[in-house]
Amino acid sequence: MNFFEIAQARQSCRNYDAVRPVEEEKLQAILESVRLAPSACNGQPYRLTVCRGKSAAAVAACVMGMGMNKFADKAPVLIVISEDSYVKSAALGAKFKGNDYRSMDIGIAVAYLTAEATAQGLDTCILGWFDDDKIRGICGLNHPVRLVVTLGYRAENDVQRSKKRKDLSDFVSFCD
Ligand SMILES: Cc1cc2nc3c(=O)[nH]c(=O)nc-3n(C[C@H](O)[C@H](O)[C@H](O)COP(=O)(O)O)c2cc1C
Repeated sequence: MNFFEIAQARQSCRNYDAVRPVEEEKLQAILESVRLAPSACNGQPYRLTVCRGKSAAAVAACVMGMGMNKFADKAPVLIVISEDSYVKSAALGAKFKGNDYRSMDIGIAVAYLTAEATAQGLDTCILGWFDDDKIRGICGLNHPVRLVVTLGYRAENDVQRSKKRKDLSDFVSFCD
């Protein structure tokens, strides 16, 4: 798959095959892709906690508050993405420029994660709705959780949807 094909194929999966595990080598390829992601000052200010088995079930319960993300307990793997410290240069840049590079770095890392998962034939859903305190307790984290990603194979009856997106003219302008 070339990148455009990956971008077309990737979609949020909310219907997992709960009994089909994620192969170890595919998981490793996904994590390696995150390792290659760019970040401000190459600081990689994040931690990924891969939750499987009982810890996946425990984290899934933390993303399902108020009836949200009901599908999450069917995903065999949940990856918790939490912040880590900035490297000094990125911290200085963020302070002087008033910019949140860490969130950007996490966003890029998660884009790599989901793209590689698609390339490996797997499915993901990025989750921004979760109980930070509870997940920190389960995973033993001292820094804020920023995203959780469900990972697994889609159920057989899950279909590829057509993409709903803004037109390019709604968010692109050219300055020549
Ligand atoms: C930062 C972020 C947070 C999100 N949080 C959730 C969530 O909590 N639950 C959910 O089902 N989808 C969540 N999504 C998925 C978006 O709804 C989805 O990416 C968007 O509607 C586009 O659809 P697609 O991913 O299928 O192309 C989130 C996506 C992002 C990038």
